[in-house]
Amino acid sequence: MSESTTIRWEQDETGVVTLVLDDPDQSANTMNQAFKASIAQVAERLEAERESVRGVIVTSAKKTFFAGGDLKEMIKAGPGDAQAVFDAGMGIKRALRRIETLGRPVVAAINGAALGGGYEIALACHHRIALDAPGSRIGLPEVTLGLLPAGGGVTRTVRLMGIADALLKVLLQGTQYSPKRALEAGLVHELAATPEEMIRQARAFIDAHPESRQPWDAPGYRIPGGTPAHPKLAANLPAFPANLRKQTAGAPYPAPRNILATAVEGSQVDFETAQVIEARYFTELVTGQTAKNMMQAFFFDLQAVNSGASRPQGAAPRTVSRVAVLGAGMMGAGIAYSCARAGIEVVLKDVTEEAAAKGKGYSATLCAKAVSRGRTTQEKADALLARITPTADTADLAGCDAVIEAVFEDTGLKHKVFQEIQDVVAPDALLCSNTSTLPITALAEGVGRPADFVGLHFFSPVDKMPLVEIIKGERTGDEALARAFDLVRQISKTPIVVNDSRGFFTSRVIGQFINEGVAMVGEGADPVSVEQAAAQAGYPAKVLSLMDELTLTLPRRIRNETRRAVEEAGGTWTPHPAEAVVDRMVDEFGRPGRSGGAGFYEYDGDGARTRLWPGLREHFTRPGTEIPFADMQERMLFSEALDSVRCLEEGVLTTVADANIGSLMGIGFPAWTGGVLQYINGYQGGLPGFVARARELADRYGDRFLPSAGLVEKAERGEVFTDAR
Ligand code: NAI
Repeated sequence: MSESTTIRWEQDETGVVTLVLDDPDQSANTMNQAFKASIAQVAERLEAERESVRGVIVTSAKKTFFAGGDLKEMIKAGPGDAQAVFDAGMGIKRALRRIETLGRPVVAAINGAALGGGYEIALACHHRIALDAPGSRIGLPEVTLGLLPAGGGVTRTVRLMGIADALLKVLLQGTQYSPKRALEAGLVHELAATPEEMIRQARAFIDAHPESRQPWDAPGYRIPGGTPAHPKLAANLPAFPANLRKQTAGAPYPAPRNILATAVEGSQVDFETAQVIEARYFTELVTGQTAKNMMQAFFFDLQAVNSGASRPQGAAPRTVSRVAVLGAGMMGAGIAYSCARAGIEVVLKDVTEEAAAKGKGYSATLCAKAVSRGRTTQEKADALLARITPTADTADLAGCDAVIEAVFEDTGLKHKVFQEIQDVVAPDALLCSNTSTLPITALAEGVGRPADFVGLHFFSPVDKMPLVEIIKGERTGDEALARAFDLVRQISKTPIVVNDSRGFFTSRVIGQFINEGVAMVGEGADPVSVEQAAAQAGYPAKVLSLMDELTLTLPRRIRNETRRAVEEAGGTWTPHPAEAVVDRMVDEFGRPGRSGGAGFYEYDGDGARTRLWPGLREHFTRPGTEIPFADMQERMLFSEALDSVRCLEEGVLTTVADANIGSLMGIGFPAWTGGVLQYINGYQGGLPGFVARARELADRYGDRFLPSAGLVEKAERGEVFTDAR
């Protein structure tokens, strides 16, 4: 028998075999070819040497227990590979099953993160002990990559906790649990304080359970909560597909659907047949386009972005120890919290002590919530709050090595506050503005050190939104850009880097989406259909409701400024058909959006949306206006994708990964697409298919859908959008 290469076999004198997962060629263990071979070899050896084996401990020599499937391999699987994918999947399942049914106690000693395939290996063990390490995560997040756990993950969680809990707690959301919460949820049996104790606990389990086996292999076993025939489950199950449809609003997410089918169908048959069902549904997902899009974005692009593909090379890494946040309003308060959470000292300044204290109060509220939900300890929350010093006194900013300005959106005011603080903070402090609309290059003119000045565009609510858009002005230096990048990483957010342009990348592109939705109302389409089209395309917010949130007057002001700038530069302004609708809504009907109490929707006294304004039908809708539903959806998706191509061509964006990640994490471009440019790559027929469809939309709805010459050439050359060289 050949030696396995990625799993070390260590047997002690008492007959306990420790299987150490340790891929010598990778920093983390993944289910690659070598591992698939190793696991089969180990299963065979255990069976052959069973008589001398008293028990098995599975643990890892890496920081993470096991990282999961090999995405580099999976992303390449096409429809033609279906049989090979199925066979390989069954191979892993069989090996794990042989270890599980060895007739000897098998314990998983989970020494670090066990997500996806890692937790599936643990699930095949009879007993699971997790090291209670900070930051460690346990769960089956495959659904977030458009996949399902196919190493027995669906089959076993259903048998471990019942169909409903397996679906809701583990499979459909892909929840990642801390070791403590994994224990509460029943994903592991016990926690260990240290690695040594974990091994002692594992040995104790082996000593106490010489005949261990899985609950589902015991005679008389029944799935907890019953199979679909059980009256209670039978009453609830029919609601699951409907809830799923509601959750995904009918958008094309095949993974939740396949997970549901695997769980339900697999619960009605024996274990081995359930595994076959699981492999079939997995194969369908992994060879399809959505999983590819999601793997590309949420793994490869995200990794590229976070690891600094857009960070200027050469600049030494820096960390910030004390930050000045100017303006303690909605954004400033959230920025202060995010910085303090990352261990940075924060001086939070507003015009009055009260306003600054109110801004700090926001952190107190978030901390109290986190403590009550068990996400942090009282001690940590107190320490976080102690790091925030509210003040109205500029002198308190002494020694700050970074400044983030978040006062009202007013160029004059922003210049004034920077002038006030420049001589107080550290002489080389990084200077950042959280402006959402003002061009950075022009803003830098009023700042003493333009090379140290950079845009740092956070999204609301700051504590939840993972993206920060870094904007490089014409005079921003590489050093400042690198420092801004490092600061964003320091607070565990994801930075994309863009060159200064009106609306930067995110606001400019989301504006296209909103304009398209509003334009359709103007063309006489039923507003309910417009909202439905956005939801079914997979947008998290419906288009008219989003417009109301942002207020109709804001884009109007920006548009007027832009038009003036274009005309001053000698260009001609081509009005978007949405403009006339917005003008009528504001000027004729006095409906500026939610903050004004009336917009495309009606609002009650508390500002809650009640219904679409019936006046829309009366003033805009023309019965008989038939915009095909597919056109409605694709007008929104295409308008954003086409503008992103222009951003890339104009140099506003410099990487494809920034475009994809920025669109997914900043402005709600539908996750199933893998991002604005991946959407074009994955469109039916690839780039040529996209170009042909764009021309069709241009014929029907206007020249704004015409693909750029660059895009057409790219399609003709048979290329796709990628950063790979
Ligand atoms: P806000 O109105 O909630 O807060 C602004 C705060 O600045 C107020 O507390 C005000 O008292 C304070 N302030 C005014 N003058 C000051 C001075 N001289 N010194 C110190 N503080 C002063 O506004 P919000 O929404 O927090 O926006 C702040 C900035 O962030 C704006 O530039 C806005 O465009 C930008 N932004 C806003 C986003 C949003 O969703 N609201 C998103 C991204 C950026």
